Amino acid sequence: MAIIDISNLKKSYGQVEVLRKISFEVNKNDVVAIIGPSGSGKSTLLRSLVYLEEVNGGSIRVDGEDLVKDGVYSKPQKIKQITSKMGMVFQHFNLFPHLTVKENLELAPKLVRKESPLEIQKRSEELLEKIGLANWATSYPSTLSGGQKQRVAIARALMMNPEILLFDEPTSALDPELTEEVLQVMKKLAEEQMTMIVVTHEMGFAKEVANKVIFMDKGEIIESGHPDELFLHPQHERTKSFLYRNLK
Ligand SMILES: Nc1ncnc2c1ncn2[C@@H]1O[C@H](COP(=O)(O)OP(=O)(O)O)[C@@H](O)[C@H]1O
Ligand SMILES: [Mg+2]
Repeated sequence: MAIIDISNLKKSYGQVEVLRKISFEVNKNDVVAIIGPSGSGKSTLLRSLVYLEEVNGGSIRVDGEDLVKDGVYSKPQKIKQITSKMGMVFQHFNLFPHLTVKENLELAPKLVRKESPLEIQKRSEELLEKIGLANWATSYPSTLSGGQKQRVAIARALMMNPEILLFDEPTSALDPELTEEVLQVMKKLAEEQMTMIVVTHEMGFAKEVANKVIFMDKGEIIESGHPDELFLHPQHERTKSFLYRNLK
């Protein structure tokens, strides 16, 4: 069964349609890469999944439950429950500057308070180990490199035990030499069967790690498929010209 089922999603800002009839499914353990030119609606799509944006029509079903069905949203309590299954990592990290690395990780779980502080602390230590930043627990974000900050942002998202991780161009703000360390962490998560949707310009990552690639342009899905198919045999002119410009 699909863990995310999106059908006929529509979103406009005033007269401008930014998502048009978007439909696709994500299965458990999928790594879906979303590619496409700037302004094609990729961020709006991801933000809609976690209710940072409201859509104007269509349906989003997560783990068998309706976030929105035919343009009608579920009750706030339900929305909260559904969106809590997803973690999001942004281009610009969005770490809290006045909190240490460890405090950044522990803040949200402590606010939810389903677990004891000891359990939360144990998990933050494990995750810092996992991303290779165990020695940075008491440092402040301003003292970290961009790659380190993004690794912390990933660990912070993982602290809430999400079933699905969403990434919006996680390496676009990073220098090339820092991009790799972030991609390595994401690759590791994929190997551990984490379900992920990744908006990215990293075609190498999409080719190597994703099992499904979606190409968007002007608010529409132009085509999608396994990376071997989509990168080697794109069917549409728009996909071909995008890949021609972006594959090095
Ligand atoms: N808050 C907003 N108000 C009006 N237009 C917006 C807003 N956010 C995004 N847009 C427009 O929606 C379109 C899609 O944007 P976005 O989802 O950010 O694309 P992408 O992530 O693919 O670059 C763009 O044309 C953008 O200008
Ligand atoms: Mg974007």
